[in-house]
Amino acid sequence: MSDTRATILVTGGCGYIGTHTIVCLLQKDYDVVVADNLSNSSIVSLDRVAEIVGLSEHDRASRLVFHQVDICDEAAFRKVFESSPRFESCIHFAGLKAVGESTKKPLLYYDNNLSGTFVLLRMMDEFQCHSLVFSSSATVYGAAENMPITEDTPVGAGITNAYGRTKYMIEEILRDFYQSQTLEESTTDWSITILRYFNPVGSHPSGKIGEDPNGIPNNLMPYVAQVAIGRREHLTVFGSDYNTADGTGVRDYLHVMDLADGHLAAMDYMKQKKSGIFTFNLGTGNGYSVLDMVKAMGKACGHEIKYVVGNRRQGDIATCFADANLAKNEMGWVASRDLDEMCRDLWCWQTQNPNGFAGQPCESQ
Ligand SMILES: NC(=O)c1ccc[n+]([C@@H]2O[C@H](COP(=O)([O-])OP(=O)(O)OC[C@H]3O[C@@H](n4cnc5c(N)ncnc54)[C@H](O)[C@@H]3O)[C@@H](O)[C@H]2O)c1
Repeated sequence: MSDTRATILVTGGCGYIGTHTIVCLLQKDYDVVVADNLSNSSIVSLDRVAEIVGLSEHDRASRLVFHQVDICDEAAFRKVFESSPRFESCIHFAGLKAVGESTKKPLLYYDNNLSGTFVLLRMMDEFQCHSLVFSSSATVYGAAENMPITEDTPVGAGITNAYGRTKYMIEEILRDFYQSQTLEESTTDWSITILRYFNPVGSHPSGKIGEDPNGIPNNLMPYVAQVAIGRREHLTVFGSDYNTADGTGVRDYLHVMDLADGHLAAMDYMKQKKSGIFTFNLGTGNGYSVLDMVKAMGKACGHEIKYVVGNRRQGDIATCFADANLAKNEMGWVASRDLDEMCRDLWCWQTQNPNGFAGQPCESQ
């Protein structure tokens, strides 16, 4: 850690979005402390981050510090704060995110995602770090009907799973917490940004880091990529009778590097605003259907992706895409990478790491 560079705490920093964001942080000359229990990630991911950024072993020891810790374990997490310089800001990715699993194990999801956030807020308060970026999700909009979705669309109603409700609840908790900070004094130095992600896809263009799902992928594009590389025989498209141009579900996919940039934009915005609680959609504002995505991935990998059409999946809606103008107008953030880039980079990751991080180190490939 350095006297001149600011240090950022990244919870869940070994995961998909965390690693991409850390690349951006290190490249913008921040030092990073990662707190992750590796429940859904591999430590190899941080080796790859160091490779991408070109950190020497010496620099890595000081600029990218890893703590294997469950953030729900207050005593253990306190040690992270005690042993680090004061954090300028925290980006809070740590959480469980598998929608289907959350329906089967709601208590695990409520416990992990809510308790982790409680402990984090207590530690941030105690150790004087008053700037937080929180990973929320478009899922908080439930079954919103008016597209594109703006940030003032009602949230909470119509969420179909426990995972989504943890995100909604945490948003509410953050608002209550922020309000509490303004009670005694009319001003506070706390600033909190809630980022509602749409559908991040793709990888760093080097192909060294990417999404590495455990078992059967929950999300469309990792599944499509595994079909493309021959790990799975075909994709099942859930429903082709929606009220959309080709009958398949439409979503707002954005490149994970654009999403990563959004966290740095949020940190800059909070610095400029000094205090407040802010909410932004992060998406492209474009909707692509399942078949658009299948076609784009076919183009990236050079052969057709096999698919079969199945029944609709319970809880799925026809169309969901963002109005991302608030993030553009307020933070100056726009998603600039297109669908071809998303698929090209996903394919680069998939071909270099057909078995994810469980394979051999990337440098030798
Ligand atoms: N990927 C998406 O499509 C998407 C969409 C919307 C929101 N989000 C949210 O963004 C965040 C990051 O998502 P991701 O795709 O990178 O997920 P991920 O699972 O790849 O990363 C989350 C990381 O958090 C860690 N973690 C979980 N519980 C922890 C705990 N108690 N203590 C310490 N570490 C813990 C995991 O080991 C993992 O490394 C999550 O909060 C997720 O809910 C993701």
